[in-house]
Amino acid sequence: MEACALNDFYTPAQRARFLSAVSSRRSVRVYRGTPDVEQLSALNYAAARLCLPGVRIAIGEGESESLFRKLPGIERISGASRYAAVIVKEEVPHAAVHAGISGEAVVLAAVSRGLGTCWVASFKRSGINVGMEYGEKVLAVTPLGVPGGEGAGRKRKKLSEICAGDPTVWPLWAYNAAECVRQAPSALNLQPWRLSFAGRTLVLTRAAMGGSLDMGIAMLHMSLGVGEKPHLMRWGEGKEIASLIAEDRI
Ligand SMILES: Cc1cc2nc3c(=O)[nH]c(=O)nc-3n(C[C@H](O)[C@H](O)[C@H](O)COP(=O)(O)O)c2cc1C
Repeated sequence: MEACALNDFYTPAQRARFLSAVSSRRSVRVYRGTPDVEQLSALNYAAARLCLPGVRIAIGEGESESLFRKLPGIERISGASRYAAVIVKEEVPHAAVHAGISGEAVVLAAVSRGLGTCWVASFKRSGINVGMEYGEKVLAVTPLGVPGGEGAGRKRKKLSEICAGDPTVWPLWAYNAAECVRQAPSALNLQPWRLSFAGRTLVLTRAAMGGSLDMGIAMLHMSLGVGEKPHLMRWGEGKEIASLIAEDRI
């Protein structure tokens, strides 16, 4: 099976920074301020450095009202004047899943610097003003700004509901990886991932309705949950998205 571009792409320092933001990240929909100069320069650095092949992340300026739709039952996104657009070149292999990985890396980098974020797939294309190249498509946008509130808080399935078998008897690295996936954001909070462990391998599978962005986000979380232990992630086939082996010697 083909190895993923994610392997060794992020430095240990970047991975530690992302992991430290996993438990505090939540979708923020109300903002009360713009990123300061230092935060903006960190965001631009992250956007330029954290993208896997086929992905570009552009930081733009624009009012929430012209970019985000009001969805039934979900608080309107308001008060943010910056955003990050997650853009793909669809002809590049794995571009959409890479977009989930890279977008979540930028989200976690922003959260680690005190900013609020919210993955948004339901946005107004007319509000995007970052300039597009031929063959590019925006898959999602996140507002970026000073959080105006705590966010609604996270509701998650139990670990036993997303794992085949009993994850408490898995090796610690596999248990931690599954727990980190459990905390990931997903469209409509569907949490459309399943994890299984067999032999030496942790496998991530797409559940019904799981989109490529959701799968990429889960892959980054799976890798972060392993921590500093050396590991290798490979692409799967069909509903099997990726598998991960972590050992002292791979
Ligand atoms: C790919 C993707 C698309 C999303 N699209 C929207 C959206 O259009 N509007 C919105 O308000 N939230 C959107 N969300 C945010 C999810 O609703 C949110 O992540 C989920 O409810 C879990 O909550 P949490 O992020 O606070 O943990 C999206 C999340 C993902 C990962």
